[in-house]
Amino acid sequence: MGNGRLIRSMAAISQLLKSRTFALLLVIVVLMISVGVVLAAEAVWSRPAESTHPALTLPPAKQFLATGQTKEFELDVGRTGWELAPGKTVDAYTYNGQVPGPELRVTEGDTVRVTVRNELQEPTTVHWHGVEVPVGMDGVLGLSQAPIQPGATFTYEFVATPAGTRWYHAHANELAQQGGGLVGALIIEPRDPPQPSARPDREFTLLSGEWVTTGTAAPGPMVVPTPSGTGGMDGMMSPGSGGMAQGAGRLNYDTFTLNGKTYSAAPPLTVRQGERVRLRLINANATDTQIFALPGHRLTVTHTDGNALQQPVQVEAVPLGVGERADVEFVADNPGRWMLAAFMPALSSEGEVVPLSDIVYEGHEGVMMGMDSPTNWTINGKNYPNTDPLEVRQGQRVRIKLLNMSMEDHPMHLHGHTFQIVAANAHAIDGPLKDTLTVRHMEHYEIEFVADNPGDWLFHCHNLVHMGGGLMTEIHYR
Ligand code: C2O
Ligand code: CU
Repeated sequence: MGNGRLIRSMAAISQLLKSRTFALLLVIVVLMISVGVVLAAEAVWSRPAESTHPALTLPPAKQFLATGQTKEFELDVGRTGWELAPGKTVDAYTYNGQVPGPELRVTEGDTVRVTVRNELQEPTTVHWHGVEVPVGMDGVLGLSQAPIQPGATFTYEFVATPAGTRWYHAHANELAQQGGGLVGALIIEPRDPPQPSARPDREFTLLSGEWVTTGTAAPGPMVVPTPSGTGGMDGMMSPGSGGMAQGAGRLNYDTFTLNGKTYSAAPPLTVRQGERVRLRLINANATDTQIFALPGHRLTVTHTDGNALQQPVQVEAVPLGVGERADVEFVADNPGRWMLAAFMPALSSEGEVVPLSDIVYEGHEGVMMGMDSPTNWTINGKNYPNTDPLEVRQGQRVRIKLLNMSMEDHPMHLHGHTFQIVAANAHAIDGPLKDTLTVRHMEHYEIEFVADNPGDWLFHCHNLVHMGGGLMTEIHYR
């Protein structure tokens, strides 16, 4: 790759990351002046077209070598009283009795075999988010998989690819099941381990979560606001929502967790001075974007959605919509006790900072350094299942244009494929590889993927309320 091109793409990515933080502020401003205005919700894209963009990083066809190893896991899906914090127990949905489910770690090219036993009173499925599985293993209830009925067992089997921070979650009755705890990390280690010098000294996998613990209903089978089915005026914010700038249908999440525990209950993340630390951040919330920040340290994003950036990017904060991931590194060069926190625009008109966990240097377990710091959704005017599926051909390089004409973030997730961001707000970029991309108010992206994994695939907003409200379509090819 020419040097000029490399520099241009680095600049494009860092501009993208910077302008996204900025765009968010813009949204907040707009939200403040538009209280009471109808939230028309629409994401638009053009018909798929064969693109001429010379993608550099997106491989032309899937290429991986099987390791010949098989890694077997078991996931028992059930209901468990889960203690978010002492005295705060919810009737959670759990894999193996815990929230999040166990971290599954494999090497790229391993055959992964996961036996799922459904001990719920309702059907479930498991989706391997960001993994390029054959369609029959994709776990979308009713599209690529028959329900795993109560009492039944299903075994998923696929070859682990691509390497990176992937995750798994229920793909049935999503707001209740996935939103209620059926989430877990799937880490696919690269086949050729990185040079020791490129390896962090320590790493943490961190899944966020959000819960409703007040009011009469336990968050178990959660009360999901009924979609109006008409859009328009019914999508207005209710004046009784206490000045919350939340969208219609967002549940009143009042408790926020990292790896299933609130800030006060979470064990601190211990580091040692001088270490290079990697955080695998996974936004496993039900609906809300979070902007993660760690004061006192320079954060470097090395991977987005598990895929290596051509060049790591230094950032102040890491915005992630639901389903998105970032691998972030920092050098532990500022001894003390620091708060990892997330700014959450959805919590009030100004947004709020939610503490998640402390990062504590060994020998500094004292000193605290703070931080100042409508239910009817459409794609091209149509509501799933009435959205027009995108019919593509095998081998095509497909370009999708996304424009978010609504006020809320839409983390758009494509099943079974990795895509590249090739344009952001009308600027062509040689952008990062992703499987989930948060498109904010009036943002405009073009993404490309190679149709190399035939089947029927979902492309949807990962905000589970929006998804349930119809912001979803299918991509078909044989
Ligand atoms: Cu992470 Cu359709 O899912
Ligand atoms: Cu959305």
